[in-house]
Parts: sequence; structure tokens; C-alpha cells
Amino acid sequence: MAKLNTPTLEVKNLKKSFLVGKEAIPVLKELNLKVGFGEFVVILGPSGCGKSTLLNTILGLEQPTEGQVLVRGKDIYTMDEDGRATFRRQKFGVVYQQPNWVRSLNVIENVAFPLNIAGVSHGEAMKRARNILYLFKFDNYAKYYPMELSGGQQQKLSMCRALVSNPWIIMADEPTGNLDTVTAEDLMYDLKVLNSESKRTIVMVTHNPAYERYATKLVYMEDGKIKRIMQREKPMEVKQEDVVDLTEEVF
Ligand SMILES: Nc1ncnc2c1ncn2[C@@H]1O[C@H](COP(=O)(O)OP(=O)(O)OP(=O)(O)O)[C@@H](O)[C@H]1O
Ligand SMILES: [Mg+2]
Repeated sequence: MAKLNTPTLEVKNLKKSFLVGKEAIPVLKELNLKVGFGEFVVILGPSGCGKSTLLNTILGLEQPTEGQVLVRGKDIYTMDEDGRATFRRQKFGVVYQQPNWVRSLNVIENVAFPLNIAGVSHGEAMKRARNILYLFKFDNYAKYYPMELSGGQQQKLSMCRALVSNPWIIMADEPTGNLDTVTAEDLMYDLKVLNSESKRTIVMVTHNPAYERYATKLVYMEDGKIKRIMQREKPMEVKQEDVVDLTEEVF
């Protein structure tokens, strides 16, 4: 059982090389990062510096060459691939640059979909999906199909879908990459509300320095290394009831 002050996420001496032909190319070069409860981490760095590789390693998708990824004290690579897949489904919500939905399902059915897969009953899944659409003021679009939505709305749908399982950590890789400035700000605002009110920890990659202001912690990467970490705000104080919250439904 993790203690109250256990970091939500910890990356320890993380190295990752890819084998290209016979040569091992180092992509992550001994990274160390601690993320406290309720932090909003923004990762910046030039293209190719290893940001997505870092996110994928944290998600349990890329076995590190050396080092560890701890989620609330649990070393995720001590689990086998199936165990990691279940853990990822329960504890992480992932938002990518490309919206992610099923074309033949409407908005609310799409949001309920991850819960259907996880074996939650249809009624309960639809109830939780409706709650989250409501939270993001998106309930008016419940009956729309993805192709009837704008790019920003499709991204909002992807976000609702990523959040419906009530994950501990939201991982977002360039979530605003394909959106215009105004729509992107809306999405950032939604993420910030989720962070401050629902106390979800967020780790987001972006190329846009304008979003530095949303961060509690800024991480600057360069050439596979963390060049600088700037703590902008103290992490939230963790209370026992918050830890209980993390295991219960908040939506
Ligand atoms: N599966 C792979 N096999 C070999 N090399 C890879 C693999 N995945 C990533 N790389 C290499 O690792 C480096 C970092 O890639 P990564 O996608 O993490 O960069 P990034 O910082 O996310 O870039 P961008 O901002 O363009 O998305 C790149 O040089 C890339 O070629
Ligand atoms: Mg990337």
C-alpha cells in the first residue's frame, strides 16, 4: 500500500535504446523525474528529443533498457504485458494528437465504450458516460456521431473517453496539435479544471510554450535528456480522503 507521500509517478535512471539494424541507438539517456499528487506536468522539447518515447515508457508500452517506472510506488515493469495492459486501462487516461473514437457509435456510446470493454454493465457505463459529458458541458452532443463533430469537439470526445474509467493519471501527447488556438485553449482549460477540481495528475507533451502557464512543473528535454525541471507551483497537499478518492468513482 502506497504511503500518502509516495510520488504519483516516478521515473528512475531511465534509459531506452532502440535497435536499428545491429546498432543500439540511445533515445532516453538516464532520466529522473518525480511527479507529485495532482501535478500538471508540461514536457517541452524539440522534435525527436524523446518526449513520446518517454510517455510510452511510462504507459508500460516500451520496456526500458535500464531503470524503473513507478506508479504510486509500484514498479510497472515487474508486471507482465497483460498485467500492464490492465493496469494502463485502469490507472491511465491517454489523449493523443489524433482524436480516437469508433465511427459507428454516437458520442455517449463512444464515451461508454472503454467501460463496456472493462465489463461494466451497460446501464452503469451509460450513466458514467453521461456524467462526464455533463462535466465537460458536452451533454448536448450525446447523440451526435463523431463525423458530425468539429475537430475540437472530436478531441473533447477523445478526452471524455480517456477519462471515463476515472484514471489516476492523464497522459496527453500533443492533444492540441491539430486544433486552432481558441479550441486548443478550451481543451487546455478543460484539462486544468480536471486537474484542479478532480485532482487528476496530468503529464502533457506540447510544442507550444504558451501552455507553460498551466503547469505546476515544467520539464525541458533535449537530445534524450532532461535539461531542466522548473517547479512552478507546489504539488497539492495529499489527504487521506484524496487517496480514497483515487480508488473510487469521482464522475
Ligand atoms: N520504434 C523505434 N525504433 C527506432 N527508433 C525510434 C523508435 N521510436 C522512436 N525512435 C527514435 O527515437 C527518437 C525520439 O522519438 P520520439 O518520438 O520520442 O520524439 P518526440 O520528442 O516525441 O518528437 P516529436 O516532437 O516530433 O513528436 C527519434 O530519433 C526516433 O527516430
Ligand atoms: Mg512525439
